[in-house]
Amino acid sequence: MEVKDSWREKGYVDEPIPEGIDLNAEIRRMCKEKNAVILAHYYTEGAVQDIADFVGDSLALAQWSAKTDADIIVMCGVHFMGETNKILCPGKKVLVLDLNAGCSLADSCKAEDLKAFMDEHPGYKVVSYVNTTAAVKALTDVVVTSSNAKLVIDSFPQDEKLIFGPDKNLGNYINSVTGREMLLWNGGCHVHGQFSLEGILKLKEEHPQAKILVHPECPAPIQKVADVIGSTAGLLKFAIKDEATEFIVATESGILHEMTKACPQKVFLPAPPETTEGIGCSCNECEFMKLNTLKKLYNTLKYEWPTIEVDPAIAEKALQPIDKMLAISKQTLPPPSL
Ligand code: 13P
Ligand code: SF4
Repeated sequence: MEVKDSWREKGYVDEPIPEGIDLNAEIRRMCKEKNAVILAHYYTEGAVQDIADFVGDSLALAQWSAKTDADIIVMCGVHFMGETNKILCPGKKVLVLDLNAGCSLADSCKAEDLKAFMDEHPGYKVVSYVNTTAAVKALTDVVVTSSNAKLVIDSFPQDEKLIFGPDKNLGNYINSVTGREMLLWNGGCHVHGQFSLEGILKLKEEHPQAKILVHPECPAPIQKVADVIGSTAGLLKFAIKDEATEFIVATESGILHEMTKACPQKVFLPAPPETTEGIGCSCNECEFMKLNTLKKLYNTLKYEWPTIEVDPAIAEKALQPIDKMLAISKQTLPPPSL
């Protein structure tokens, strides 16, 4: 099937869905027929999470793609996640639903700017958060996710000189829990940078028993009021295990879908952002993640486009720090089940 110019212009397959079809059934049928798997991040909309073969955080999604034997990986998430899959599985077709699904955090660190920073700081090793482009990963010694950042950074000698980027809030958090002084890139996520401390404290006043769950991409004042700081999977695990029945959740609101599914008897309150202008809800949404819809998933599978391509020379270099991270994580974390 030829890729239409209009699709290229839009960044996704813009074809009408045949009337009267059962979207879910058709998507599952095509997956079987094409030996395709659907991976989804916790921030995508509920309907997309529900149809996926595997839903997880950034680490689990990378671990999963590294071991799947499917021919096609459909990544419902953002662009850097598709790139990570392609780097790990160069022989497979990796599809995303919309090429416009970027990431403000990944955008905050251009490879050429990082290279210049590295040249100014000889003798430093570079640790990159997974929310980066393949070109940035190719300059990196090791990749981390919010699930394993401490574990991976602890694998360096305490006196190793490290640059950490691009998320300054996560970097500050890791510095505080490891006693290191990594040089930090000044990047951030516009979603996690938006939470209102005042709004969270007001919500806590109204729900004094609620525990506050915070993603480390949030700024330090929000981290300070947290009962627990963790990756999306870490926060979910805490909510399942903890005896509390109410939680204020300071991360992208898509995670509430899985939390509510896993603990239907508990109450999850999205932490409010500073402004709801342009968001359309009183929670915090990543507009890039929300570009993933069931209709686009159908069209992506049907037409097998958009594909993710990574320059092979860059992919080869970027694979090493990702593999290093996966090897370190394997020592303590069981890989997600297929
Ligand atoms: P995790 O799911 O790894 O916690 O990452 C959060 C995130 O911002 C993904 O873009
Ligand atoms: Fe990127 Fe932030 Fe969206 Fe995560 S929530 S994908 S870090 S923009």
